[in-house]
Parts: sequence; C-alpha cells; structure tokens
Amino acid sequence: MVKRNHNFERLEPNYLFKRMLDIAAKYKSVVDLSIGDTSLPIPQEVTEAMERKAQALGTLEGYTGYGMGQGNLELRELLAQKYGRSADEIFISDGAKSDVGRLQLLFGNQVSIAVQDPAYPVYVDTSLLMGQKEIVYLPCTRENNFFPELKKADLIYFCSPHNPTGYAATRDQLTELVEFAKKHNSIIIYDSAYAAFIQNPDCPGSIYEIPGADEVAIEVSSFSKTFGFTGVRLGWSIVPKQLKYADGRLVHPDYLRIATTFFNGASNIAQAGGVAAMQTDCSPLIAHYRENVRILREALKERFVVGGGDAPYLFAYFGGNSWQEFETLLERSGVLAIPGSGFGRSGEGFLRFSALAKRSTIEEAANRLHCYLSPTC
Ligand code: MLT
Repeated sequence: MVKRNHNFERLEPNYLFKRMLDIAAKYKSVVDLSIGDTSLPIPQEVTEAMERKAQALGTLEGYTGYGMGQGNLELRELLAQKYGRSADEIFISDGAKSDVGRLQLLFGNQVSIAVQDPAYPVYVDTSLLMGQKEIVYLPCTRENNFFPELKKADLIYFCSPHNPTGYAATRDQLTELVEFAKKHNSIIIYDSAYAAFIQNPDCPGSIYEIPGADEVAIEVSSFSKTFGFTGVRLGWSIVPKQLKYADGRLVHPDYLRIATTFFNGASNIAQAGGVAAMQTDCSPLIAHYRENVRILREALKERFVVGGGDAPYLFAYFGGNSWQEFETLLERSGVLAIPGSGFGRSGEGFLRFSALAKRSTIEEAANRLHCYLSPTC
C-alpha cells in the first residue's frame, strides 16, 4: 500500500472555511457572514468582454487554445502599468490562494516561515503540507494595534489589509517590514487581495510603493473581492526580476518554470474579463460593501471592533473562547461568523464578520446582532 503524506497529520481534518460551510448547511435560517464571498454582480462591461471571448472561441477565426504560460500579455501590461513593474514580472493565475500554495515550491521545506497571528489559514496549512518545520507566529493584538513585532524567518507572509482583522499597515510599518527583510535576508510574500478597500491615504496598496521592496518581496493579489471574481477565478503574482536567493541566483526564472510546469494559465475567458476589469471602475462595488461595513459596525457598537475601514472584514471582541462565543451567537441569533481563534491563537476572543454578503443579509444580521447584544431584547 502507498503511504499517506505524513504532513496531513499536522492539519485539522477540514479546512476552516469548509467547516463553516458544513455548519451553515445544518441550520435552516442561518444569516451567513462567515466566508468572505462576494455578492454583487460583476460589472456589465466585464461580463460582456467574457461573453465576447466565449463567443469568439466558437469561431474558427476567434478560437485560441493554450495561452502564454505567464498569462495574457495585454492583461499583464495593464497590471504592470498599475504597479510600475514590467509585464514579464507578472504571472496571471486562477487566484491568490493557488499562488500562495504554488510559491512554496520555490523554497522547499527547509525554510522557516513567519506568519501574522491570526492569519488567512492558507499560509500555515500549505506550509505544513509542504513539510515546513519551523513556523514563527507574529501576534497581532490590541496591545500592538494589530501590527506585529517582526521576528526573523526565511519567508515572511504578510497580508495588508489584513485578513482577518481588517487592519491595513501604514507606509512606515511597511517600510519597517521591508527594512527588516533586507537586514535578515528574508523574502516577504505579500498578499494585497483587499487593497482596493483601503481608504487611509497613509496605507499603501502595494508593497512596491516602499523603496527597495522589489529586492525582497513577491506580491500576490486577485480580482476576487474587487470585481466579484470569486467564482470566475483570476489573480496574479508579481515576482521582481532582481529578487535573489541566498546564493545570488534569481527567483524569477524558477517561478516561470513552476508556473509553466504546474499550470497552463488561467482561463482565457476569465483573462478577457480581467482586461475589461482593469479598465472598469470598481468603486461602486467597494462603496456598496463599505455601506455594509457601516451597518454592521453600528450593530456591533457594544463591542470593540477593528477593521472595516480599509477592508471588508470586522473583527469584533466578544471575550472568552471564540468557538464558544461563535456557537452561542449562532444558536441564539442564527448569525454565522468565524471564530477568531480559527485563524490563529491570537484571534482568541474575537469573531470575524464579513461585509461582502448581500445587503438584505447584512440588514438581517444587523437586526439580529442588535437584539443579541441588547440587554433588553
Ligand atoms: C475569507 O473568507 O477569508 C476569504 O474570502 C476566503 C478566500 O479568499 O479564500
């Protein structure tokens, strides 16, 4: 018989968000603010571009097969322009989540990793599966205002705006991160999936706004939350040409090797949508989700809440054990959040609420939360 990858023993049997889906399925009238899934339709300009591409695929002249391994050049050029990078540093993918997993292959399992605690579970789960021995946790707490004390590791996963707390790091804090990585010869894997939600002008949307970041950072991002592509699937990674391993060799050619070996590129229909999305204003969608944040924040006003201002997540302090608070809230009000400790030990006491749900769901949740938190209700 074939042996199982022993690293599975290091994981919870179910991925956190799958657990949430399973719990939601057991309740009839659950108001689901758990997984950050978008609810607004994709802008028409974007769906029309995908429709045209789909129609073209049914014609002899318009048919295209495998694309360029790294992705549609027009899309890469548009992204390159946005980030002030070159198109050959951009790798189009089926989403930031898959990229986080694939990027691990660059470094193997003999590197230490540091991760914000709490964190999007994919960083730790993929590292454990990869067989990483050393995971250094960087607590993000009320005491340090959700920006962690940095600790030495080969790879530093850093998400800003941060999932799950919603905290966006300032320019000074990201400068500190880049300087730290330079000093300790670390590589930062920077997740900017929520950058479009930033309102604070002091919080950069990309790590490359920090001088010298291209010597130490890879950035991953996606169209999921900005344009409602959670189902379409389209993201990108930026691997700067000057980024080097410890022995001075370049990282970029290796990522090209991985991208073209493990992957045949994102769907050409999705990429046509991406080209249109890059030329479409996403601010009406973002404004709608911000109003959802306002409604939820109002309902949670009895609680300490971080996030919401620069991200579609509210991280609210309920005290006690997150899983117990989560269950009590669910039993008594039917509102499904995510226990903060599901994202890491430092999330204990918190619940995460997503503001990406439909407005009617948000309003219903706000009514229920209001009642749940009110002593007279
Ligand atoms: C979340 O709920 O944290 C995210 O939406 C899940 C994801 O992007 O994979």
